[in-house]
Amino acid sequence: MSETRNSLCLPLLFILSFPALLYAQNDFNPYHYQVEKRALCTHGAVVSAHPLASRVGVDILKMGGNAFDAAIATQLALAVVYPGAGNIGGGGFMVARLANGKNLAVDFREKAPGHATRDMYLDSAGNAQAALSQNGALSSGVPGTVAGLFEAWKYARLPFKKLIQPAIDLAEKGFCISSAEASNLNEFQSTFRKYNTVMPVFVKEQPWKEGDTLVQKELAHTLRLIRDNGARGFYEGEIAGLIVAESKRSHGILTLEDLRTYKAIEREAVVFPYKRDYSIITMPLPASGGVLLPQMLKMIEDQPLKKYGFESVKAVHLMAEVERLAYADRAKYLGDKDFYHVPVKTLTSTPYIMARMKLYDPNRAGNSQDIQAGQIKPESEETTHFNVYDKYGNAVSITTTLNGEYGSATVVGGAGFLLNNEMDDFSVKPGVPNMYGAVGGEANAIAAGKRMLSSMTPTIVLKNGKPYLVVGTPGGTTITTSVFQTIVDILDFDLSPSDAVNMPKFHHQWLPDILFVEKDLPQATLEELEKMGYHVKKREHIGRTEVIRISEAGGIEAVGDKRGDDTALGY
Ligand code: GLY
Repeated sequence: MSETRNSLCLPLLFILSFPALLYAQNDFNPYHYQVEKRALCTHGAVVSAHPLASRVGVDILKMGGNAFDAAIATQLALAVVYPGAGNIGGGGFMVARLANGKNLAVDFREKAPGHATRDMYLDSAGNAQAALSQNGALSSGVPGTVAGLFEAWKYARLPFKKLIQPAIDLAEKGFCISSAEASNLNEFQSTFRKYNTVMPVFVKEQPWKEGDTLVQKELAHTLRLIRDNGARGFYEGEIAGLIVAESKRSHGILTLEDLRTYKAIEREAVVFPYKRDYSIITMPLPASGGVLLPQMLKMIEDQPLKKYGFESVKAVHLMAEVERLAYADRAKYLGDKDFYHVPVKTLTSTPYIMARMKLYDPNRAGNSQDIQAGQIKPESEETTHFNVYDKYGNAVSITTTLNGEYGSATVVGGAGFLLNNEMDDFSVKPGVPNMYGAVGGEANAIAAGKRMLSSMTPTIVLKNGKPYLVVGTPGGTTITTSVFQTIVDILDFDLSPSDAVNMPKFHHQWLPDILFVEKDLPQATLEELEKMGYHVKKREHIGRTEVIRISEAGGIEAVGDKRGDDTALGY
């Protein structure tokens, strides 16, 4: 059962479109589909940023595929129907809990190209050049998504060609774009013209409008090469050649060697207890959530949040201060631990966290000038998230990204996909904020082959040892705080998944010293917080959180965020 919220495409278009008639099978119709915010079901569910991608995933589940099969098909479909963030030219992270109790964490984050250097985005006077780290092919890290999909496929049941075919069809035959996609594409027209030498299909003389059909033949060709040749179809041969040629034309530094040597890495998942009944499974570095989420949850674990009340001044103050403390550590200590020693054990240890909480004053806002990263002894926008749960009991949580919306804005000529602008997630110069306002230092400085620090926090919560919540969100640096708040809203405040997803979020990241809040946070709470010393700033959406909750009796509830076209489907 599901609630239908709105219909995206015009029925007339479907009637007039001959290919559409051929293409539509069963109830899968890429020219006429609906956003559905909540699914209640018993077999399996997918929740993602786009109705067509969720549909592709659920169809794979119905075909007997498991959560990994569905996740692979969903990600590939997102690369077609959600070009602003769905991708094959970016990277991401997967956290999974297998039905047999094994935890899995796959890092397919982009890495810095072999020719990358620490000061590559500084001008001769030493000033950071955000235009270079945020746009065009020089801003691109080596893409990891395709390698990540094949790493995930080790746990899947169906042939890869079955999983990629829906994406090929969507690219080859087209689909109707939503009103949100039309307005995003229109907003980016001049950016696309500026950063492409071969004009991509996203560039159009007349403005895009809801219901227009987007056909991506070159992307379909790329996907076919991946179907027929596996990961080598992307990292070697024709597509690798096209990526390097595009990079050269667009003043980037990607080489064939960078692509040929890219590897997804299976890492040890971060697992920690929360309260009596729960265990949290999340992604380790270079995903910062692997440090910040345990820090923040441990800081509030023994606090009487429920008594304070949801959205109360006391609760928001406590959670904002915890965010401030954690993000101060992020700026100083966090980076790719394969390149830089990060004292993860200390940063997440109870004595360290208790000592940090001594800085918390229940009556007054902290001050980021006074609160620096903890002293420790040496010790031995745009992104997208989706969740899948299957009838076998496997849970998969994936966050993947091009970084900014449409990434570098550079489409690989002849191959039809966008390159990421993930290099901006490095600290291009100590203390200089990146596009999300996050600062960093030595730990996250650029080095060849290093993976840039991420905020992506795909997470699974176990209750009494069984998957209970599958959760994650896009949103740059707000990702970790949104995941934190969603978990706390459900586990501490007893909110329903729909309320936890849709109620207003807030965000503090130490610097800038601002408490960002969504507009609908109660005005009375905001006024009290200002009196306590907070610099409050209202902003548009924080995150687009997706949640699946599995009850002890086996009922599945999937919820897509109201903040976008996000759709939850199940069967
Ligand atoms: N590019 C967003 C993140 O990884 O945090």
